[in-house]
Amino acid sequence: MKFGHFDDAHREYVIDTPRTPLPWINYLGSEDFFSLVSNTGGGYSFYRDARLRRITRYRYNNSPLDMDGHRIYINDGGTIWNPGWQPTKTELDSYSCRHGLGYTILTGEKNGIRAQQELFVPRGDACEIDRLTLENKTDAPRTLDVFSYVEFCLWDAMDDSSNFQRNFSTGEVEVVGSAIYHKTEYRERRDHYAVFWANTPVTSFDTSRDAFCGVYGGPAEPEAVKAGHCSNSVAHGWAPVGAHHFHLTLEAGETKTILFGLGYIENPVAEKFTAPGVINKARAEAMIARYATDAQVDEARKALAAHWDDLLSALQLDSGDEKLDRMVNLWHQYQCMVTFNMSRSASYYESGIGRGMGFRDSCQDLLGFVHMIPERARSRILDIAATQFEDGSAYHQYQPLTKKGNRDVGTGFNDDPLWLIAGTAAYLRETGDYSILDESVAFDNDESKAQPLMEHLRRSFNFTRTHLGPHGLPLIGRADWNDCLNLNCFSEHPGESFQITGPSEGPVAESVFIAGMFVKYGEEYADLCGHRGLPDEAADARAAIAQVEQAALTAGWDGAWFRRAYDAFGKPVGSKECDEGQIFIEPQGMCVMAGIGKETGQAEQALKSVEERLDTKYGVVLLQPAYTTYRLNLGEISSYPPGYKENAGIFCHNNPWISCAETVLGHGDRAFEVYKKTCPAYIEDISDIHRTEPYVYSQMVAGKDAPTFGEAKNSWLTGTAAWTFFNVSQYILGVQPTLDGLKIDPCIPHTLPGFTVTRRYRGAVYHIRVENPAAVQKGVKRVTVNGKTIEGNVLPLAPAGETVEVTVVMG
Ligand code: BGC
Ligand code: NOJ
Repeated sequence: MKFGHFDDAHREYVIDTPRTPLPWINYLGSEDFFSLVSNTGGGYSFYRDARLRRITRYRYNNSPLDMDGHRIYINDGGTIWNPGWQPTKTELDSYSCRHGLGYTILTGEKNGIRAQQELFVPRGDACEIDRLTLENKTDAPRTLDVFSYVEFCLWDAMDDSSNFQRNFSTGEVEVVGSAIYHKTEYRERRDHYAVFWANTPVTSFDTSRDAFCGVYGGPAEPEAVKAGHCSNSVAHGWAPVGAHHFHLTLEAGETKTILFGLGYIENPVAEKFTAPGVINKARAEAMIARYATDAQVDEARKALAAHWDDLLSALQLDSGDEKLDRMVNLWHQYQCMVTFNMSRSASYYESGIGRGMGFRDSCQDLLGFVHMIPERARSRILDIAATQFEDGSAYHQYQPLTKKGNRDVGTGFNDDPLWLIAGTAAYLRETGDYSILDESVAFDNDESKAQPLMEHLRRSFNFTRTHLGPHGLPLIGRADWNDCLNLNCFSEHPGESFQITGPSEGPVAESVFIAGMFVKYGEEYADLCGHRGLPDEAADARAAIAQVEQAALTAGWDGAWFRRAYDAFGKPVGSKECDEGQIFIEPQGMCVMAGIGKETGQAEQALKSVEERLDTKYGVVLLQPAYTTYRLNLGEISSYPPGYKENAGIFCHNNPWISCAETVLGHGDRAFEVYKKTCPAYIEDISDIHRTEPYVYSQMVAGKDAPTFGEAKNSWLTGTAAWTFFNVSQYILGVQPTLDGLKIDPCIPHTLPGFTVTRRYRGAVYHIRVENPAAVQKGVKRVTVNGKTIEGNVLPLAPAGETVEVTVVMG
C-alpha cells in the first residue's frame, strides 16, 4: 500500500494523506540553519547544533505524536483547522504534502478555503521562511482568524528538557510590531537571539504558551484560536512562544499571502552591548527586510532550486529504469547531503541531544557526499581529524558547534581510525587535491600537538597495526562498526553496554571485520604513500597488510564463511561452533570488498553462505541464528529481541557491502538484487509494512525473526545513504574516481542493455555511454574518448571546463 507517489518532474515526493504510518519528514537548510518538517507540519529548528542552539521545542516520544511544529491555524467561523491537519486533526476536504529539495509545501482545503504553507530555508541566511497563501474558492467574501504558532526552546535542548527549576524563570521576549524576539539567555551571553516575524501587521499576538494554549489546552485546542484572538501576552519565564493573529477578509476568489520568518541572529563574539538584555535589532531588521515581499521570497526559492540543480548535476543517470534513475539522480544524493549535515544528531529518532557528529559516521558520510561539494568535505575531514588522539585512536563523537570530542561517549572503537583513511582517500580520488595531506591538524583539539594530516593517516594505519591480538587479527576494543558487539565490556561492567565510559580494550578480543578494513583501507593508505613519493613506506604498509590478510584467511575463516571475531576468552564469534550467531554479515562484506579470498575461492564461498543463510525477501539480516538470550561475553547485541537492530535485524548499512562485494566477484545480477531489496523506491508499494518514508533509507528493517518482519525504524540518519550511493554509482554503474582519473568498470544485471551517466569530475564533464550488447554482467571490452579508443578503462583527465564524450562497450 502507498500513501503518496514520486513526482520526478518536480523532484518531489507527494503525500496524499496526513495519516501516514509514521510522520514522514523533510530537512530544510543545508548550511547553518536547519528545520525538520513532517508531512503534517510538525518538527523543529536549530542553528548548527541541535543540542546547543535549539530554536524551537520538540517533544520526542510524545503521545499523540508530532504535536510540536511550524503551525498555522485557521478559525473559520468556529471551525478550526490546520493546512497540514495536525495538531487539531480537523478533517480536511483535501490535503497534500510535497517534500522537495530543501522545501516542503503543505496544502489543505476546508469549506472552500485553500491554505498553502510553503516552508524553506533560504540559501545564505539563518532563517526559515513560511509563506502562507490563502485562497477563497467560493463566490462570497469570507472572514477568517488566522494564527501562526511556534514554541521556543531555551537554547540548550538538554537543559531545556530537564532543568525546570531554573528554566521556568529565565524566559524573556520582546515584541516590536509583528516581530517577536526570543531573547532568553541574552542577559548573560549577549551573542544570540531568535526572531519570529510576519510581513503583515498583526491584529493581536501571544508570547506566553499558557496564554495562547491555555494551561490545559495544548496545541490541539489552543484557547486563543478558539477565542478568535490572542491576548497580547508577554512571557515572563515559563514557556515563551511566538503566535501572530490576523483577522482578515478574503473577497470571493481572492488570494492573500502572509510571509512568516523564523530567524537566528548571532552577534560577533567581540560585540558587547551597553545594557544586559537590550538586543541590537538591526541584524534582525535587515533579515526581515530581505523577505518582506513575495517577489523576494520567489527569488530565494529560485536560488535554492538552482543550487540543487547544480549539486545534482555532478552525477545524473539515464538507465531506462525509472526507480533506479530517481534514486540515483535525486533521493540517494539528497539523503547523502542530509547525513553529511546532520551526521547522527537530529532526526525523528535521534533527539539532537544524545549524539553529535560521529567519527566513523561522518567519515563514511563523506563517501556519498564528496562529489557534491568537495570543499565542504575538505573542511569536514580536518574537523574530524582534530578529534584524533596522538596514538591514532579517536573520540567516537564530537559536538558540531564546539568541534570538541565528546568525552561522555569516550573512545576505544577500534575501527574508527581506519575510517579517517577511507574518507580522506575518497576526497583525494575525487579532487586530486593532495594539499590536504599537508594541512596541519591538532590532535585532541590541542594545536600545540598539530601535525600534517598525512601524519594523522599514518597513525590511523599504525594504530591497527600495533593493536593485533593472539591470532594476528586486529583487537576490537570497545566495539568495531557494530557498536553492540561488546566483547570486552563484561570484564569491567557486567551487563552494561559500551556507553559506559572508561577503557575497555582487552588483550584478546579480535575483529575479523577490522581485518577486512585494514586490508581495504590499508591498501588505500599505501596507494597514497605511493603517490606521495614514499615507496618504502608503501611497501612496508603492504607487508603488514599481507600478514593481516593471511590471518583473516586462516584464523578468520570458519570453513564456509569469515568468522566475526574472537571474544575475550579467545572463543570464535560467528562460527558454526557457536549455538547462535553462527554467521555475521559484516566480515563477509568487508573482507570480500577488500578482495580477501578472491583467489582462493573463499570470497565466493562466503557470499554463497550469505545468500543461503542471511538473505530474506526484505534484505540481508545481520546474523543468524538470532540470539535468544543475553550473553555477557557479547554485550548489547544480545540485549535486543531477535530480529531487531544488530541482533539479526536487516541493518541497511551493510547490505550495500554485500552488493559491493558481489561486484568484486563480477556478480552483477546478484549485486543489483541485493541493492533493490532495501531500496526505498522499489519497496514503495509496501509502505504500510515498511512504515517509514519511502524516499529515504532507514537504519534498520526488522528481520525475519521479528514479529514485525519488514517494519523499518530510524529513518534518514544512517550510513546506508552514503554506502548505497557509493555502491550504485561506483560499484554497480562503475563510475569510479581513482587517484589517476575516472575509471569505468560497471557490474550490472545482464538484462540491462546499457545506460548513460553524466559525471562532473575535477572540473570537466564526462558524458559516459555504456553499452552492453553481449548481455554480460561485468567486463569492459572497449573505451573510446571523444571518438578515439584508449588503453584500459581509466579516462585521461580532461582540463576543467571541458566536456568529454565517452563510450564504453562491455563484453
Ligand atoms: C544501537 C546502535 C547505535 C548505538 C549508538 C546502540 O544502542 O543499537 O545501532 O549505533 O547505540 O549509540
Ligand atoms: C549506528 C551507528 O551510527 C554506526 O556508527 C554503527 O556502525 C551502527 N549503528 C552499527 O552498530
